[in-house]
Amino acid sequence: TATAPEIHRGLAGVVVDTTEISTVIQETNSLTYRGYPVQDLAARRRFEEVAYLLWYGELPDERQLAGFKARERALRPLDRTTSELLARLPETCHPMDVLRTAVSYFGAEDPTEDDDSPAANRAKSLTLLAKLPTVVAADQRRRRGLAPIPPDPGLGYAENFFHMCFGSVPDPDVVRCFDISLTLYAEHSFNASTFTARVVTSTLSDLYSAVTAAIGALKGPLHGGANEAVMHMLTEIGDPQRAEQWLDEALAAKRKIMGFGHRVYKYGDSRVPIMQDALDRLVARAADPDVTRKAALHAALRHAMLSRKGIHPNLDYPAGLAYHLMGFDTPAFTPIFVMSRITGWTAHITEQLGHNALIRPLAAYDGPGQRPVPSDA
Ligand code: SDX
Repeated sequence: TATAPEIHRGLAGVVVDTTEISTVIQETNSLTYRGYPVQDLAARRRFEEVAYLLWYGELPDERQLAGFKARERALRPLDRTTSELLARLPETCHPMDVLRTAVSYFGAEDPTEDDDSPAANRAKSLTLLAKLPTVVAADQRRRRGLAPIPPDPGLGYAENFFHMCFGSVPDPDVVRCFDISLTLYAEHSFNASTFTARVVTSTLSDLYSAVTAAIGALKGPLHGGANEAVMHMLTEIGDPQRAEQWLDEALAAKRKIMGFGHRVYKYGDSRVPIMQDALDRLVARAADPDVTRKAALHAALRHAMLSRKGIHPNLDYPAGLAYHLMGFDTPAFTPIFVMSRITGWTAHITEQLGHNALIRPLAAYDGPGQRPVPSDA
């Protein structure tokens, strides 16, 4: 008899293709984008340069960066139709639904939607990079009962997002922390939402369809939705003294603790130390007892999780509290993840098209044996 095929549930440990974009090295807990260690990129480059690197394979020189920035800034505004369409979505819907709808609409109105040439897809990628922050900021203000603030082409990518959200740009140290988070969130090999984008692309469907699908995948709390869930969890616990008891009860109830664990990193997520350092700087500069208490709770839960389960935090754990301290509304946290990951997703879409194979795995059947349909009852 044929041996039962080995099942790889969740595709855990399964290598399905090659990629030149990034690699997650579990043994050394490191991550490189096109060969550059992510901690060096976060420390020495801005997010716009990282976006260019992921798309073009090389860091931009001064002239290339200037042209890239000019093109990105010119594409930021939303036209009236788009703004009116998004303003019709119910405020009860999740901001990820607004982003999903926006990308779908951008595709519907783009005459080059079905042109999958590298040049056309680069243009679509840059359009999404430039416009998604405008969508996220306008949606956050709408939910606060405020009118949108138009993008400012005189500001960098990170500075402009704060301007569109709050009407002002905070201290450069705060902007720096945000920019670092965008570099860390940009790319992570074949994670669930990136693989989703590759599956859709493998049928030769269009980039907007692939990104819409990826947004759907990222929304889930086991993936990008975790950074929002982290903040809800910290708010639920409240007091640092309650962390251990809360954790024991949650673990006893077999709950997944948001912001902890990872499919690939088993000894800690290489991005966490950099994001934690940025978070520590935000806490120190706040010099506010309420902030200090939240940071103490954040640390207590991390230590308790490590001592009880030996499970390390992932990027979403420090990022969630950091976004809260930057003033963003909790439901906007995963949309901010999308603003960054659009660069990795679209780099993979282009790569998938470069050496495409339809992604179509097999299943081992364990349903009812073949049986005749009874004649008319
Ligand atoms: C991201 O893949 C990527 O690269 C994703 C990402 C990216 O940049 O794209 O890094 C971004 O999505 C980070 C992950 C965000 N998600 C969360 O923080 C949600 C909580 N995390 C867990 O759901 C879990 O850790 C996963 C989903 C992240 C990974 O799960 P796996 O690899 O499928 O591992 P598992 O669920 O089978 O857990 C193995 C064991 C289990 O214990 P046993 O049932 O064997 O006794 O560890 C336990 C799990 O119960 N465990 C946890 C846990 N994570 C693992 N228990 C409690 N809380 C957790 N968070």
